[in-house]
Amino acid sequence: MAGNYTLTIIKPDAFGSGKAGKIIAHLEQQGFRILASRVMHLTQAQAGEFYAVHRERPFYGSLVSFMTSGSCMPIVLEKADAVASLRTAIGATDPAQADAGTVRKLYAESKERNAIHASDSDENAAREARFFFAESEILAAR
Ligand code: CMP
Repeated sequence: MAGNYTLTIIKPDAFGSGKAGKIIAHLEQQGFRILASRVMHLTQAQAGEFYAVHRERPFYGSLVSFMTSGSCMPIVLEKADAVASLRTAIGATDPAQADAGTVRKLYAESKERNAIHASDSDENAAREARFFFAESEILAAR
């Protein structure tokens, strides 16, 4: 199934300010289909592990603190060429650099509080989807 699914997270800034519905509608309009989703409040350990690749970066502590500041919404999304397609749809990390019409241009506050996460490779999509969901939950909607 690699190649046709990816993992997104509607982050605490966007979820907490009531933008989840608009973001999901935007993505569905672009042809993404929800395979699995839940609302959860990440623990420090979960956020730290999810973003472990950024452990040495200066923003790591702040990122973990932000991601545990409120509820978020991990979602497995299906579409052809899902990883690249979602990264195009959400726009650059920094909303100031994001193209018009992208999720981050429309809904993000800053480089850190940037509304949404997207996997950056098929390998990470598989790892990140399994971080939040059992294989059976992902397969149930397929
Ligand atoms: P995301 O796509 O979830 O991947 C890593 C996250 O770290 C990123 O979105 C931002 O939320 C955050 N991030 C990346 N670069 C910076 C930065 N320079 N300063 C603060 N946060 C950052």
